[in-house]
Amino acid sequence: MNNNTFIVCVADEQHTRFAEIICTEMAESAKARGTGIAKRTPEYILQKMQEGKAVIALTSVGTWAGFCYIETWGHGEYVANSGLIVSPQFRKSGLAKMIKEKIFELSRSKYPHAKIFGLTTGLAVMKINSDLGYEPVTYSELTNDDEFWKGCQSCVNYDILMSKERKNCLCTAMLYDPAEKEIRKKAEPVKHSFNKESKLFERLMNIKQISFLKNLKENIKIF
Ligand SMILES: CC(C)(COP(=O)(O)OP(=O)(O)OC[C@H]1O[C@@H](n2cnc3c(N)ncnc32)[C@H](O)[C@@H]1OP(=O)(O)O)[C@@H](O)C(=O)NCCC(=O)NCCS
Repeated sequence: MNNNTFIVCVADEQHTRFAEIICTEMAESAKARGTGIAKRTPEYILQKMQEGKAVIALTSVGTWAGFCYIETWGHGEYVANSGLIVSPQFRKSGLAKMIKEKIFELSRSKYPHAKIFGLTTGLAVMKINSDLGYEPVTYSELTNDDEFWKGCQSCVNYDILMSKERKNCLCTAMLYDPAEKEIRKKAEPVKHSFNKESKLFERLMNIKQISFLKNLKENIKIF
């Protein structure tokens, strides 16, 4: 836990100086975890910032704290939120959650009809994704865009992925499908919200009071 306040925003030209440190931290973290990762170059990170397809987190004094970016696949049918990284000194203070919320919001506004997905081995990311409405899916529900899967070539587990004909690997796939969410929303029965100031709530309380008093009177008569 730390006491920093963070600024989490869509990255732009002024943040390109952080591309190198972000890239280094991504590689270092992957090495430390001993898990696979798709390698990124500083140029790629920089491009994402210039395109407005990345979210960066800084401390109030301008120290880099975290990052994540968007990639589109299958001609925009799919959006992947990738490369999530939080600087080790700022972990476990809810920053990844803030970054993922912001990148999710950016993805939804830029590509409102796209399915949003991510591949991860990390429990923290699975938790955050699930809170955002992502659901675990099989790889067959992800994009079949070869370019996306080429990104896995630099992962240490690439042989496993290929031996399973791209149907499975060590990463869990999670997907947010806006169309499916819409269908489910429409299918849900209308739920009344019992706002304590609403007329409906007031009427229900009146009915309850009346029937309570009636029962009370009847009980008093008996005794
Ligand atoms: C994974 C990572 C991004 C998490 O960042 P973070 O800022 O520490 O995460 P948060 O503080 O927002 O935690 C989010 C949730 O995950 C949980 N969590 C955080 N780290 C965790 C861990 N190592 N194991 C299990 N749960 C974890 C938190 O308790 C929190 O859960 P809650 O909402 O129920 O309290 C960070 O550890 C990191 O950069 N790791 C290296 C790169 C990496 O693994 N990236 C993900 C690639 S998919």
